[in-house]
Amino acid sequence: MLRLSGCRLASTASSATSNTKAGKLLDAIIRVDHAGELGADRIYAGQMAVLGKTSVGPTIQHMWDQEKGHREKFEELIRKHRVRPTVLVPLWNVAGFVLGAGTAMMGPKAAMACTVAVETVIVEHYNEQLRSLMENSDENVDKELLDTIRKFRDEEQEHHDTGIDHGAEQAPFYKALTNVIKAGCKTAITISKVI
Ligand SMILES: [Fe+2]
Ligand SMILES: [Fe+2]
Repeated sequence: MLRLSGCRLASTASSATSNTKAGKLLDAIIRVDHAGELGADRIYAGQMAVLGKTSVGPTIQHMWDQEKGHREKFEELIRKHRVRPTVLVPLWNVAGFVLGAGTAMMGPKAAMACTVAVETVIVEHYNEQLRSLMENSDENVDKELLDTIRKFRDEEQEHHDTGIDHGAEQAPFYKALTNVIKAGCKTAITISKVI
């Protein structure tokens, strides 16, 4: 929490690039991805709290470790570019954990269904960002951000595939469950881009 409040303090200075179209895009991308990776970290934390000692524990731990790396990278980028974090950081913190733990309590397949739903939305979201970065940034496209998003997109795809391999589609109410979670993630993304 100290680190996050540090981000907020730093963000009172306006971003060096946020006056240009490319700068505004960079701001929005870093803000929403920082929020998303924080949420993802909390989802896997919630899953581990419930399923950590079961046979899927090590699989979830591996994905969680990668999410911790994603979160750390966006915390670094949010400081480096002096981007204001979303004001909803505390909400995504709690919502992520509740989603992870709640689906895990329905069983390992429901937890994997949650992973599949979240990662489907995130892969699409990262692909859209890669397209906008290529289209809207001139020759000064931020290479570090581009490479980061590409790498994370590939890891999120792996998480999605892990979920499928571990029986996500056999979860009770798979379609309804994943549709609700996908809609929630899309709403969270839309909100976090702005506030
Ligand atoms: Fe991630
Ligand atoms: Fe992920």
